[in-house]
Amino acid sequence: SSSLIVGLVGGGTVGGGVYDIVEHTHKDFFRSLGAHVQVKRIAVRNLTKQRDFSVAAHTELVGDWRLVLDDPEINTVIEVMGGITEAKEVVFGAIAKGKHVITANKALLAAYLPEIVDLLKKHPQVKLGYEAAVCGGIPIIHTLQNDYLGDQVSQILGIMNGTTNFMLTKMESGADYGQVLAEAQALGYAEADPTADVEGHDVQAKIALLAKLAFGVHVPSDQIPTKGISSVASVDFEYARLLNATIKLLGMAQLSPDGKKLSVAVSPFIVPREHPIAGTNGSTNIVNISSRNLVSSSYIGPGAGRYPTANSIVSDLVRLARGLVGPPFPVDRAMPLEPDYTSRFYIR
Ligand code: NDP
Ligand code: HSE
Repeated sequence: SSSLIVGLVGGGTVGGGVYDIVEHTHKDFFRSLGAHVQVKRIAVRNLTKQRDFSVAAHTELVGDWRLVLDDPEINTVIEVMGGITEAKEVVFGAIAKGKHVITANKALLAAYLPEIVDLLKKHPQVKLGYEAAVCGGIPIIHTLQNDYLGDQVSQILGIMNGTTNFMLTKMESGADYGQVLAEAQALGYAEADPTADVEGHDVQAKIALLAKLAFGVHVPSDQIPTKGISSVASVDFEYARLLNATIKLLGMAQLSPDGKKLSVAVSPFIVPREHPIAGTNGSTNIVNISSRNLVSSSYIGPGAGRYPTANSIVSDLVRLARGLVGPPFPVDRAMPLEPDYTSRFYIR
């Protein structure tokens, strides 16, 4: 039976949910798998802050993530602290020490994708799980890592940010931008710096990861034209209404018709009312995948928030306990990128 001694780096919105599931609500399930799973240490920034989850006696709260990396008994690091500076040291440091890594950090993965893949090649026994990094609770990473390997994807299109979809949904009925942003923050949907959400950088990182999975191509962020929702005004919703449509912030990755070039973009789109994307409201996300065999499939679910995101982390943990984690990016391909291939911001 496997033994996962976990160091949790981050005890905030996502980390608290992970701890609660692993140590409280789902303890018996892990036992039933024959797996010994225990969180030995939780690293946070502020040791005196009141936590909104209860910490068991066997778990030590520490004020420095190095104490997680330096503990030889910890064989699995869950990085849910965010940022790309110290989090990079945590993830790279853990892999280099032979510890498995589960992370929700799409910004870090997208920024250092080739370096992470290279480092993992040097440590083939280390597994990397990142289901939580894209679309919160929707199991889109495992789906693309496994279920599309016999298919040919031509397009990925969808709502990949809970904060801005929550905001746009409320702004459509007249709510104030600043007020709905504050609401999304209070609900735990937003990034520590919500600029990443509203300016589209969060979706940029997510669509880069999905493009790598679906097409095998690494897409650097400077190749992804990105526009967020900060310039969307109530008059835009009025125009959309005249077209019997609404406005959604979408990530898109699509092959050119000859299948030889890839274009990736993030932008607010005008979406006709009858399209399933238009009816995806609040913090719910949707990913629509067009492919040769499955034609068109949509994956819809909670895109952000404590338990949906923690569920994705725990799902990676269960796979790890069962020895089911495969290569993080199973396909490798080079293809020219065509940043301006799509300049249509209206979807049919
Ligand atoms: P929070 O801000 O709620 O939690 C961050 C945690 O990390 C806090 O416990 C904080 O400590 C700790 N932390 C921050 N910096 C350090 C540091 N230098 N050393 C030690 N601990 C540190 O963030 P979230 O839980 O919302 O997000 C975490 C990650 O999950 C991010 O990468 C985010 O992109 C990703 N994510 C979030 C989702 C969501 O819905 N919230 C959904 C999907 C992914 P302290 O509590 O003491 O301040
Ligand atoms: N801030 C992100 C969002 C968290 O709102 O979608 C989920 O990745």
